Amino acid sequence: MKSKVYIETFGCQMNVADTERAATGLRKAGYEMTSSATTADVVLFNTCSVRERAERKVLRRIGEVRKLSSPTTHKRPLIGVMGCVAQLEGQSIFDKTPAVDLIIGTQATDRIPSLIERVQGGEAGVIDLDERQEGEVWDVSPAERRSPYVAFVPIIEGCNKFCSFCIVPYSRGREKSRGAREIVNEVLRLRSLGYKEVHLIGQNVNSYRPRSMEGLEDYPGATPFSRLLRAVANTRMDRIKFTTSFPRDFHPDIVSALEEYPNLCDWVHLPAQSGSDRILKSMRRGHNSEDYLKRVEGIKNSKRRLALTSDIIVGFPGETAEDFAATMRLVEKCEYDALYIFKYSKRAGTPAARLDDAVSEDEKTTRFMALEELQTSVQGKLYNAYIGRKVSVLVERESARSSEDMAGHSTCHKVVNFKANQTRPGDIVEVLITEGKPNSLYGELIS
Ligand code: 5AD
Ligand code: SF4
Repeated sequence: MKSKVYIETFGCQMNVADTERAATGLRKAGYEMTSSATTADVVLFNTCSVRERAERKVLRRIGEVRKLSSPTTHKRPLIGVMGCVAQLEGQSIFDKTPAVDLIIGTQATDRIPSLIERVQGGEAGVIDLDERQEGEVWDVSPAERRSPYVAFVPIIEGCNKFCSFCIVPYSRGREKSRGAREIVNEVLRLRSLGYKEVHLIGQNVNSYRPRSMEGLEDYPGATPFSRLLRAVANTRMDRIKFTTSFPRDFHPDIVSALEEYPNLCDWVHLPAQSGSDRILKSMRRGHNSEDYLKRVEGIKNSKRRLALTSDIIVGFPGETAEDFAATMRLVEKCEYDALYIFKYSKRAGTPAARLDDAVSEDEKTTRFMALEELQTSVQGKLYNAYIGRKVSVLVERESARSSEDMAGHSTCHKVVNFKANQTRPGDIVEVLITEGKPNSLYGELIS
């Protein structure tokens, strides 16, 4: 009998997609997937190393799982580490954490079944940090997807940007785009299976550059990404979202595509990281605040009202009070629909790790809170402006607050709660907004 495998996922959407892909391969190889560590013979941690906190959480979880006993072998489960921490730390994980039996790099997802077999066959120190191999294609069975209505579709893996603070180019390697025909076929398949929304995902979706234009011949556009958006829109999938966009590569033709196709959703995630030109230069972002604001202007001036969200890092080495004030001004100007704020976390091996002038933890906290307060007030006004407006919502689940309410996301990617009135998950409904909450909207169903 083959073993039961549980995968615990940390970090970004790319890791979620990788877990789905790994589960597809495991089940094909005869393994059973299980939804908790206590019922598993094999526990895999799909790890994130973008900030230190995520790394520490995994170590704690490995400590807990070591103490469990597998229902079949009555010994502790076989423990594997996959994802970014595995790729970056490799062999040294075995030395630091002896409970780990298996190390799986970010491009070894399709080889997990045979790696597990090697460990079970008695081999010690099994590790695979190699690249993806020819013929390994993105294949995810609907059974492994997190939701039966919303699917993540990776279009580009890796990153070539090397922002000075970021570990991703080291953990995920160079940018590699999937062929357009393969992507479009996957979206068509998802549509025929009843999916209502796809998220085209990648570290930088708008840097999409496939080896050939196959599948894009009939779709015009200034960049391969805007052509891909049109091609995917043409599948008639109900809702198409995409994230993350890299400011330097954000061509105005993306906005034109959103204006042409209503099923391309009205939301752009465009991380600024900082509002200070001095810090942006030291971050090696390839854009200054003026370039960034020009992109934002293009988005705000669209014929459609497009929601805009962003990421900001506070406390980057050398960030002065003046630099931070520039970030505050930028955030005020951009009027983001949501903002993800991060305290700078030093990542060994990145250029920024060698910079002096660290900002103290206390100061990072102070700046974090000041920025959060500003965003809360900006967001409050913005959300209240939705009162009286209609939004289209994909119903996802019962609301966490009340069993009489359902919750879902709008096309502009806001959480919307509303009186259920016999709607079911998977329905797309119109909701009239009656109330703005700090991080969500509340409304009534329009029948
Ligand atoms: N410290 C803090 N935040 C970081 N991010 C990436 N690297 C770091 C780091 N070293 C943030 C960036 C990025 C988001 C996914 O995580 O804002 O856009
Ligand atoms: Fe990291 Fe910059 Fe690449 Fe984003 S663009 S993954 S922040 S290096």
